[in-house]
Amino acid sequence: MRQATVTDRVWRHFLDLRAGRVPARPAFRPTAAEAAALALYAPLAQRSGLAAEPRRAVTVAQIGQSLDGRVATISGDARDISGSDGLCHLHRLRALCDAVVIGVRTALHDRPRLTVRLVPGPSPARVVIDPDGRLPDDAPCLADDGCRRVVVQALDRPRPRGIEVIRLPREGWIDPADVRAALSRAGFGTVLVEGGGITIARFLEARVLTRLHVAVAPLIIGSGAPSLTMRPIDRLRDALRPPTSVYGLGDEVLFDCDLATSATRKAGMADTSAVCA
Ligand SMILES: NC(=O)c1ccc[n+]([C@@H]2O[C@H](COP(=O)([O-])OP(=O)(O)OC[C@H]3O[C@@H](n4cnc5c(N)ncnc54)[C@H](OP(=O)(O)O)[C@@H]3O)[C@@H](O)[C@H]2O)c1
Repeated sequence: MRQATVTDRVWRHFLDLRAGRVPARPAFRPTAAEAAALALYAPLAQRSGLAAEPRRAVTVAQIGQSLDGRVATISGDARDISGSDGLCHLHRLRALCDAVVIGVRTALHDRPRLTVRLVPGPSPARVVIDPDGRLPDDAPCLADDGCRRVVVQALDRPRPRGIEVIRLPREGWIDPADVRAALSRAGFGTVLVEGGGITIARFLEARVLTRLHVAVAPLIIGSGAPSLTMRPIDRLRDALRPPTSVYGLGDEVLFDCDLATSATRKAGMADTSAVCA
């Protein structure tokens, strides 16, 4: 496991890289911990708005969970699962992505703002998957603060001016590949799927993710919402086994799973390594 330390010069490098101001190789000689941070965030730091070419689409999901694989208590309290290091990591991901996606249950329960507050950097567009139009128009994530706001719906439900609606068909679930393609068409290159577990699991099952970040915090909840619930399999040989790098983030451990280069990717959503090198 490598300890990843995001110093000011490392973070400045990523913000400059996203803005197209510097080449991928940093102009300084990194320490071992900085080199780990560079390796961790490099796959996400492609230039903002590179959306038109689906082969370049980066779709990362991040979930913060306890040692026993829970993402919230039974009552839905998820706020303090990640400590300050895990939260900074999440805000870094937001700052490096064009759009952040959540399911409507998280939007209703947590009422998140989805802005970048713990690190310097731009806030992403906010996207809520809300098939039945349950999200109230005054939800914090729909507040008009200059960021784009998008609701993915399966029905016609008018939204106030300024909120973009993507209407997609559903057969049971809306196909996450349709969601991703629509977000690419809307101009979003790098997309963060932030939760909750239901939403991330659908993207994972649909083979739409290029990366999965699982941040494990040192607490045991013992009950509550499980991290990722997917279709049952009988044999462990059918489990996903993506190439994974492990990073220390303070007292949390981050598993960075590379889904882009594995055979688990859906045809047509190809390797992004060339973009991110
Ligand atoms: N620890 C963490 O990292 C973390 C992160 C985020 C949230 N959370 C916690 O997780 C809990 C909520 O998560 P959750 O897993 O229950 O729900 P969720 O993923 O937030 O939302 C799921 C809902 O979103 C809609 N949805 C998402 N993907 C869809 C698709 N492909 N097609 C159609 N509808 C789709 C559906 O809405 P309908 O129900 O209307 O059909 C679905 O039931 C909260 O307690 C929250 O605090 C934890």
